[in-house]
Amino acid sequence: MDVLIIGSGGREHALALALKKSPRLGRLFIAPGNAGAADIAQQVALAVGDHRAVIDFCRRETIGLVVVGPEAPLVAGLADDLEAAGVACFGPSRAAARLEGSKGFAKDFCREFAIPTAAYRRFRALEPALAYLREKGAPIVVKADGLAGGKGVVVAAALAEAEAALRSMFDGAFGAAGAEVVIEDVLEGEEVSFFALSDGERAVPFASAQDHKRVADGDAGPNTGGMGAYSPAPIMTEAMSARVMEEIIAPTIAGMRARGAPFRGALFAGLMIGPDGPKLIEYNVRFGDPEAEVVLARFQGDLLELLLGCARGALPKASPLFSDQTALTVVLAATGYPGPPVKGTEIRGLERAAATPGVIIHHAGTRREGGRFLADGGRVLAVTALGASVGEAQNRAYAAVDAIDWPEGFCRRDIGWRAIARERGPDALQSNGMERTIAGRRT
Ligand code: AMP
Ligand code: GLY
Repeated sequence: MDVLIIGSGGREHALALALKKSPRLGRLFIAPGNAGAADIAQQVALAVGDHRAVIDFCRRETIGLVVVGPEAPLVAGLADDLEAAGVACFGPSRAAARLEGSKGFAKDFCREFAIPTAAYRRFRALEPALAYLREKGAPIVVKADGLAGGKGVVVAAALAEAEAALRSMFDGAFGAAGAEVVIEDVLEGEEVSFFALSDGERAVPFASAQDHKRVADGDAGPNTGGMGAYSPAPIMTEAMSARVMEEIIAPTIAGMRARGAPFRGALFAGLMIGPDGPKLIEYNVRFGDPEAEVVLARFQGDLLELLLGCARGALPKASPLFSDQTALTVVLAATGYPGPPVKGTEIRGLERAAATPGVIIHHAGTRREGGRFLADGGRVLAVTALGASVGEAQNRAYAAVDAIDWPEGFCRRDIGWRAIARERGPDALQSNGMERTIAGRRT
């Protein structure tokens, strides 16, 4: 079967690598992809917002399955239009993608179906929102309702910060995405990315991961799309996974069906694991990036069969299998990120880095010019390694990072610190285990 992947990041390179292992795969296309994915898939220059053009391409090339990586095309209804044209698509309909596309929708949905989440209120005007903020006090969370590229959430320690966030949202900082806001209580605990696959009726767990959202070591600096991740998340014991499936994933799938918008695709629950169990921070309707890199590095089944099963409403009965190894990925970003990144600089040493045992170099924002690899985005590479422990995977990943010669790039040096502190025992986690983990390796 011929497959088209939509997207350009490390997640889509990871999807391409995993799909490539399927014995059923024929030709693999990617729109637009990157210099890494180009080694295993044919890059196509498609305007993804032009659904007619995507459908025409699929017909011309007899595409049997479209796999959509990012959320924006799903929120824009690409899956609906493909399905109407008779092309199978992995990824939810526009109506089901509202779980990610509107935070207010997601919160009301949680309330209706008793899915544990933070207490909240929705607002369409500044004054009542300010009054509610003052009544609640800080710390408090202010969120733009719509898609804001991960930047529309402010966890405010002080009231003034929350008020400023609110004013900037209603002033149009996020355009239409900020025309409505959600104000919610702060959740305490440890954050986890949990993935499940669904065909609209049933869901199966598809591994967990922990992301590192802040740009700098020690979880400092502004939020990013994610600077590194590892899988599995040690806090997700079998018992905790079972609770998440029962208390969050199953009611979500049942609720969306009840609303006439069955969810087909990857359901990514951003969770806070706190003293009274798992609570939903937010839904995403796709795989995470860089979570996909680590989750798919551990996946051992036939991804094409699984994604096709979701798209066709016939998820395979057997639970997906994963390696017992830990996967860890370190994102290399271009100077300037998460602001405007420096583009066009040359990256050397990729072959040497890829020769490190257990390492996969996932490309994100890269392009090829002649024989040279050039940086072409904010997050540029995701250097991924497998290991028997988080510590081993981390050593391998950083050994590969150090083999890459790219002066204009940077990365965090502490990816995995929390899990490594845990591997060393409870004392390490409490007494600034991170400093010990990265000692001697800070550059
Ligand atoms: P979101 O885009 O909703 O995932 O929010 C971005 C980040 O803000 C999350 O990954 C959390 O780290 C944090 N966050 C969002 N909502 C809350 C909350 N209610 N309590 C604590 N942290 C939150
Ligand atoms: N890494 C978080 C996300 O993909 O939303």
